[in-house]
Amino acid sequence: MKITVLGTGYLGATHAACLTSLGHDVLGVDIDPVRVDSLNNGHSPVLEPGLDDLLTAGLQAGRLRFTTSVTEAADHARVHFLCVGTPQSADSWEMDLSAVDSAVDELVAHLDHGDHLIVGKSTVPAGTAQGLQERMPERVAVCWNPEFLREGHGIADTLQPDRIVLGIPDTGAGPAAGETVREIYADLGEVPFLVTDLTTAELVKVSANAFLATKISFINAVADLCEATGGDVSVLSTALGLDPRIGPGALSAGLGFGGGCLPKDLRGLTARAEQVDARQAADLFRAVDAENMHRRDRLVDQVTDACGGSVSDRRITVLGASFKPGSDDIRDSPAMTVIGDLEDAGGLVTVCDPAVPAYSRDLSGALRGAEVTVIATDWPEFRDLDPVAACDLVAVPTVVDGRNCLPVARWTDAGWDYRGTGRRAQSSGWNPASTASTAN
Ligand code: UDX
Repeated sequence: MKITVLGTGYLGATHAACLTSLGHDVLGVDIDPVRVDSLNNGHSPVLEPGLDDLLTAGLQAGRLRFTTSVTEAADHARVHFLCVGTPQSADSWEMDLSAVDSAVDELVAHLDHGDHLIVGKSTVPAGTAQGLQERMPERVAVCWNPEFLREGHGIADTLQPDRIVLGIPDTGAGPAAGETVREIYADLGEVPFLVTDLTTAELVKVSANAFLATKISFINAVADLCEATGGDVSVLSTALGLDPRIGPGALSAGLGFGGGCLPKDLRGLTARAEQVDARQAADLFRAVDAENMHRRDRLVDQVTDACGGSVSDRRITVLGASFKPGSDDIRDSPAMTVIGDLEDAGGLVTVCDPAVPAYSRDLSGALRGAEVTVIATDWPEFRDLDPVAACDLVAVPTVVDGRNCLPVARWTDAGWDYRGTGRRAQSSGWNPASTASTAN
């Protein structure tokens, strides 16, 4: 099928390449000519394993192309996926929908007289799609097909999804629109396919992210309780996760969630709940966000404590800047907040990250002379760091593990003073079985 994809950021580039691999003929559209050039040469705008190969395969097969021309897009296809960003507004918790509005308005202004289908994938507040449908000419239908992509797993999450959710309009065009989207994904095989109204589809996406965020903040809140009472959040988390009603995902305690999606989707949902006067819902979501932001202050407090009360002029090495391992994305990264706060407090901060270009990848160099070492992102190279070799490099063997990712016994055996989240601080020689068995 001939398809256009509007917006070629993380979501759009991945979606376009994946649609091509399903056999479709795809034209990607973006307002950024540099990005379009790069994509036309097979280079993804973001760090995403396998995406460059998939782009190159599509380009070579002649079924994938990128352009800045909306006229070309309007001519290319009758189905148009909307994949533009919806960041948090500069001055509120609401989502900024300006890219959605301008992409749709520009496209519609160029559409010929036939029937067209706009399939929204961008994450938007409940009611957005209905509003778009109402301002479309009758021959243009709008449906909503939210994405659930995790950065670093975008291709698998698109080609082997857990579920496909599709909101269709309550107009006569709804059922046919649903069939078209079903046909586009036909080769994905047996995947639960839920057809619903536009608003429910929008809400599925934001509530999925809000639920993941809630799980993370919940385990972090319990981590504080563990610290205050002498429990161990790692064992506790494993025990909770074994209950199939709870499940093990999103239950790792530590520095909390960040990135381009979870925080802004949670905030967008909070703002929407307030707009429609769903106050208890808004309070719940607000508490989840507050707990998450508290994690960052908490880590800075732990580092300050490790420095004896002030970080001023102390050499602190922060391992990790991206919001999670496997990504170079620093949007709303908890690590970046911690780095900024430690610098503001006068700390002499050295940062090491394997993917974020602003920082060094030289782990040994970063550790040399450190008075406190902080794990802010659980990159495998930090998790697997040899504590004996690292001990020889630092000035003071004190580690604050903001991701609870280090094998505690190995670190304390190597002489480190270990401070994690929701577990007792441990120094060399203190090594109870319960901690050793959960450390890995
Ligand atoms: C998320 C959702 O998972 C995805 O379905 C949605 O489409 C977009 O948002 P992503 O932003 O790639 O994907 O991040 P994810 O892997 O979910 O991690 C989010 C953040 O939570 C990271 O900062 C991570 O470090 C943190 N996290 C995750 C925890 O602190 N604890 C956990 O147990 C899991």
